[in-house]
Amino acid sequence: MRFATRALRVGQDPDSTYRAVVPPLYQSTTFAWESLNDIPPIDYTRCQNPNRQMLEEVIASLEGGTHCTVFSSGMAAIASCFSLLEQGDHVLMASDIYGGTFRMVEQYLPKQGITHSVFDAHDFSSIAKAVTPQSKMLIFETPTNPTLRVSDIAAVCAEAKRHGLLVVFDNTFASPALQNPLALGADIVVHSTTKYISGHSDVLGGCTVTSNSELGYAIYEWNKAYGATPSPFDCWLSLRGLRSLGCRMDRHCENAQRVAEAFQKHPAVNSVSYPGLPDHPDHAVAKKQMSGFGGMLAIEFHEEAVARHVAENCQIFLLAESLGGVESLIAYPPLMSHATMNESQRLERGILPTLLRLSVGIEDAEDLIEDIGQAIASAPVMTRV
Ligand SMILES: Cc1ncc(COP(=O)(O)O)c(C=O)c1O
Repeated sequence: MRFATRALRVGQDPDSTYRAVVPPLYQSTTFAWESLNDIPPIDYTRCQNPNRQMLEEVIASLEGGTHCTVFSSGMAAIASCFSLLEQGDHVLMASDIYGGTFRMVEQYLPKQGITHSVFDAHDFSSIAKAVTPQSKMLIFETPTNPTLRVSDIAAVCAEAKRHGLLVVFDNTFASPALQNPLALGADIVVHSTTKYISGHSDVLGGCTVTSNSELGYAIYEWNKAYGATPSPFDCWLSLRGLRSLGCRMDRHCENAQRVAEAFQKHPAVNSVSYPGLPDHPDHAVAKKQMSGFGGMLAIEFHEEAVARHVAENCQIFLLAESLGGVESLIAYPPLMSHATMNESQRLERGILPTLLRLSVGIEDAEDLIEDIGQAIASAPVMTRV
């Protein structure tokens, strides 16, 4: 079966009692034993639940892995990867990484005696420079948040392997519909399933996927021990959303491409970063490793006042955290996703006060283009165009 069919059919046969087409919700924390000698396959929802198991089976299939564990949030999934480290270990973290991952690595891993260095996923020599004898893991993501740069996943993984590092890859921005990092050399893929996988901005969740049974088991056990498990209803909602990922993602890509093209040459705009634009610096590598260019883009305006005005004056794009839902959202990274970083850390990464990040939804593309256009048109007079 191909991707869109697997999303709808893997592990989703009609239920055995009533042949319901939609998987029933098992809103139960506990499952009865027939006898002391007959332990049920699922006995307590912190450890496993039928809705969770079904979601894990589908995500594993879509990512091309064998072991998926789902969590109550993307950050819990990332924390589970760091649980594989021990006191004294060292992590390599890509400079362009989600702000929450940055916070966890900078502020919380040191409390467990785990140190880190930052590397540049576009400059492979920076990996060798950052590696120490204690280095155990490398974590990165692409397309990056919020600047939409794309690094070569296979090449970064190969370099990490040369140094014996375990590779964790955050695939939230692309989703399994557009790229499968396990096939490119990553050991563990993580997602904030809150985003494209669930796709409707109504459920928080995360997952890990691997084809290494030892890693998969260790992560599953950590989740059981710490209880970062999603509720049955959250799993049910996530699967409901995941079933339409293929066609949602087609529309996200189509709309984002049209919005990017519409504003690329606008006089108020300095640049549009979208991997689908032929003049994007990473267009060739994106084309090589992704089957579409995604629904995320960044617009850098000439003037901070214009960026802030557009953020506050769109009628269809809502000014809100998060991404990957059916509705279009606009984010101002310095005050939202990257508020954890100080100004110089943001500037080093190109997260300028003139930059807006757009999560392009599945509305009519013409309405989205008109919406941004009217917001720019009503902005304060520009001093430099
Ligand atoms: C790339 C990426 N990874 C991880 C996360 C964390 O996910 P969650 O908010 O579900 O914990 C986010 C959240 O925005 C994200 O954008």
